[in-house]
Amino acid sequence: MRIDGTSYRTIWVDPEDGWSIRIIDQTRLPWRLEILRLTETEQAFKAIRTMQVRGAPLIGATAAYGLALAARQDPATDSMERAAAHLAEARPTAFNLTWALQRMLQRLRNTPRNERAEAAYAEAAAIADEDVEQNKAIGWHGLPLIAAIAEANRRSPNVLTHCNAGWLATVDWGTALAPIYRAHDEGIALHVWVDETRPRNQGASLTAWELGRHGVPHTVIADNAGGHLMQHGMVDLVIVGADRVTRNGDVANKIGTYLKALAARESGVPFWVAVPSSTIDWEIADGIKEIPIEERDAGEVASITGRSAEGSIVRVCLLPDGSNAVNPAFDVTPAPLVSGLITERGRSAASREGLTCLFPEQAR
Ligand code: MRU
Repeated sequence: MRIDGTSYRTIWVDPEDGWSIRIIDQTRLPWRLEILRLTETEQAFKAIRTMQVRGAPLIGATAAYGLALAARQDPATDSMERAAAHLAEARPTAFNLTWALQRMLQRLRNTPRNERAEAAYAEAAAIADEDVEQNKAIGWHGLPLIAAIAEANRRSPNVLTHCNAGWLATVDWGTALAPIYRAHDEGIALHVWVDETRPRNQGASLTAWELGRHGVPHTVIADNAGGHLMQHGMVDLVIVGADRVTRNGDVANKIGTYLKALAARESGVPFWVAVPSSTIDWEIADGIKEIPIEERDAGEVASITGRSAEGSIVRVCLLPDGSNAVNPAFDVTPAPLVSGLITERGRSAASREGLTCLFPEQAR
């Protein structure tokens, strides 16, 4: 996507040296656009852990390049496996992390040692490129949902989204935002309600920023406003992304997604989940029992970060002394609350049957 006329991806190999990795530091957005250089696996681990990069597909791509950095330093099998095990611990919920590392290890195990560094960069690049293509396809498959509303209502559709599942959360295009960008680019006037997404405000900071750079009309709302807007017919469609989807169609996504799904069901608003196949964990069925939910630092709930009137980035405390906070980062929306999934192969019901219809090679 473009930032002020320049095309960017969220991660790329530095063209000057051909091996170090460049990322956009998302902890500085929307206030500053800062590009970081990663030269060691540990820096890739920290970038994921501290959320300089975040969003399930981008976490996967960063881990893949983190392993390429490891292969460059020491391509021995046990060293590769240690690096992958370490990277896998950076964050627990996004399935793309495990998926990308398994794919990298598979390629490296089948490659002679002296060719592993080159193979690792090639595989990481393939993971990144495929992510872009899959998200583009999700955009096309989601477009008819928005176009149908525009056609039926003869007015701009209002789409609500939660967290950031835009291009910043992937290598490019985004998942939930891909149909929105595609509709906008196809000339469909639409408007996006952006949940601020406490505690880290990925909606207010990142989704609003990237929609604004692309010229998509949007309005940021407090997380608690969505139900009210749905009751009053002000939301035509909800589209969110996912960090992990089970083979039965249960969806883990940013905390608060489940409440939006409940409100959408109550008001009869379609609730769609846009997801590349790299986010589907075919090994598990019951999302509530089986998806590991990341517990983050309570300080993220107890404080908020923003820009002061003087222009510096400041963090301020919200709680009275002595109050505790707790910070589960994701929740699970059970499949029956999901109207359907938008994948790179098309749309399906959020169910085992729906998913295996699109991905017959995963039938068991
Ligand atoms: O904690 P984050 O910011 O990594 O959470 C991101 C989300 O919940 C996204 O909705 C999800 O990863 C889908 S990204 C295309």
